[in-house]
Amino acid sequence: MFYNSPMNNIIQKAMQYHSLSKSEIVSILSTNDYDNELFTAADSVRKEFVGDAVYLRGLVEFTNFCRCNCLYCGIRAENNDTLRYRMSESEILSVAKQAIAFGYKTIVLQGGEDCFFSAKYLGEIIKKIKQYDVAVTLSIGERSFEDYDYLKNCGADRFLLRIETTDEDLYKKMHPNMSLENRKQCLYNLKKLGYETGTGCLVGLPNQTLESLASDILFFKELDADMIGIGPFIPHPNTPLKNVEGNNFLLSLKVMALTRLLLPDINIPATTAMETLYPKGRMIALQSGANVVMPNVTDSIHKKMYEIYPNKASVDYSELKQTLNSIGRTIGIDKGFRKKKY
Ligand code: 5AD
Repeated sequence: MFYNSPMNNIIQKAMQYHSLSKSEIVSILSTNDYDNELFTAADSVRKEFVGDAVYLRGLVEFTNFCRCNCLYCGIRAENNDTLRYRMSESEILSVAKQAIAFGYKTIVLQGGEDCFFSAKYLGEIIKKIKQYDVAVTLSIGERSFEDYDYLKNCGADRFLLRIETTDEDLYKKMHPNMSLENRKQCLYNLKKLGYETGTGCLVGLPNQTLESLASDILFFKELDADMIGIGPFIPHPNTPLKNVEGNNFLLSLKVMALTRLLLPDINIPATTAMETLYPKGRMIALQSGANVVMPNVTDSIHKKMYEIYPNKASVDYSELKQTLNSIGRTIGIDKGFRKKKY
């Protein structure tokens, strides 16, 4: 399958040594001629390092209030056309318990950056969920070291905070009043505190270059991220980027596959944005390096209002299970922590 060519040699090298230079990454991203080889290589590294289990994480979108103004995001503070909600503690616990009863071994609490949820308040919710035999993941944005420390002590196991882009200029343009430096600091703080730390990037932001995507991948490696979520940017009609073209499925799949080659033993979700943008995008991602799916377990009333981007895809559990079985994959039954092998 891998006939000798400079590009195939790069892919082979990545498979074997899990290391590439920035220019090698750019060269792979620059051509679509070797995509099949790239995806096959990522799939085989996935199989070798993390096996055939696909881990499900139950996502609870508990607040869509957000103090940030990220240009691409549908729940940005300045979007006045969004109905805002906060789930109460009992609503959060009720959907979490339902998901746990269904068999989920991880509950992800995701929300906008909403100061209403103090560390103390969130801590109480985490402690209650942790009475069950599950892992808790937080995705609540930038907080102080002390808050992260407190939440870890309340039982939080993992944290997701995408770097979004490591390109300094692009980061500044996309994130008013935020800084790349602080975001990186948050990620290093999370690592230091012992969280399984997830990050990732958006693919297809205006003026984003292949070089900057290559730097994103190298940053994931430098951080030694435990999880990486990569999603295509999808324009949202109530944001300043509404007219930007958003057709980045293939490029995001390639960034994801390269990430699997370079960080062979981490958890990589087939992101909802991939499924939203491309028919069977989730299954394609699961066969190109991904090993995690994050179904939304939020109740339907709140789910509708958490519109980061339009037409978010959902997961049909029995369909997922069937399709996974048909491609020789199973649903993971343990908590699915990273088993560091590399
Ligand atoms: N398209 C795709 N992904 C988006 N996100 C936010 N807005 C969009 C969009 N318009 C992603 C960000 C964030 C994650 C929760 O959702 O990367 O980290």
